[in-house]
Amino acid sequence: MGYALSAEPQPRIVEVGPRDGLQNESAVVSAEKKAAFVDALAKTGLKEIETGAFVSPQAVPQMADTAEVFAKIQRRPGVVYSALVPNQKGLERAMQAGADKISVFTAASETFNQKNIRASISESIERFRPVIRETKAARLPLRAYISTAFHCPYEGPVKPVAVLPIVKTLMGLGVDELSIGDTIGKASPRDVRSLLKPLLDIVPVEKLFLHFHDTYGMAIANALTAWREFGVTGFDSSTGGLGGCPYAPGASGNIATEDLVFALSAEGADMGIDIEKLTAAARALVPSLGHPLDSRLSRVASTGRHS
Ligand code: HMG
Ligand code: MG
Repeated sequence: MGYALSAEPQPRIVEVGPRDGLQNESAVVSAEKKAAFVDALAKTGLKEIETGAFVSPQAVPQMADTAEVFAKIQRRPGVVYSALVPNQKGLERAMQAGADKISVFTAASETFNQKNIRASISESIERFRPVIRETKAARLPLRAYISTAFHCPYEGPVKPVAVLPIVKTLMGLGVDELSIGDTIGKASPRDVRSLLKPLLDIVPVEKLFLHFHDTYGMAIANALTAWREFGVTGFDSSTGGLGGCPYAPGASGNIATEDLVFALSAEGADMGIDIEKLTAAARALVPSLGHPLDSRLSRVASTGRHS
């Protein structure tokens, strides 16, 4: 441990605000506003933006216009615009829209998976097989999420032993990257250590992302623990601290990108991301959302202190 040296691998962020953030908002945000949000995020130095989801519009109406969002964004060279897909139909729609990268998703708890995607864990993995085959045939990179990897809103605590076999199966299917989700934002640094110890025996650290929601205010502590104690560099976050899954009752937003960039930078990371531009991107969304933002830095910015 110690300060980050320039030779050390630096943290990388996958921005999930346009997908995880906006999927959980009750206000209707227009495709124009969503695209403007994505474009503003692309100018902050972020290198990957999960731009939307090609899921069933009955399941998540907020994501029904993702194709329109993809059509409206101004693609910035060097930025990856990815999309969440649950099945082959989603993959077809994502490819048609020109997504640069595909994310599939399952969970470590059966009840959550049933509620979220109407499939058991093993059924969902069977569903992925053709999706993964076709994604690879199209030479697109592939991420797989495992939700409820620490706690399930229906089943309670989830042990590492439930997560590891799913990780092994997904790695065996050839996914390029894994995102391990604390879907209801209840994990502590102790939980993170318990999972990372065995997980890093089976997943190369550069393929691992951690996806912390922040319901109990521990997401920053979790991210710093993962980075400083285990060398994990991949983190998902959502500008403005928006987020939550409609099928995970009680879950609040993701760790806010601006708070995460602030914390990692304060801890010695060289992020290359402009925090002012992040908070401005989030602020521009507020009139469409109809509520203030949850991130610490948004609150600091709104009081005008410390600037
Ligand atoms: P189902 O009802 O079993 O699907 O839902 P189905 O295959 O029986 O199809 C039913 C209807 O949906 C059909 O239409 C299909 O065509 C249509 P109809 O014939 O009745 O007119 N349909 C679709 N339409 C558009 N795009 C599609 C699609 N698929 C089917 N891709 C299904 C199963 C998986 C589709 C559904 O449950 C679903 O879409 N669930 C997604 C739920 C979701 O998006 N949750 C939030 C994202 S996950 C998350 O937030 C967690 C994460 O952030 C990590 C973490 O925090 O832990 C990633
Ligand atoms: Mg999430």
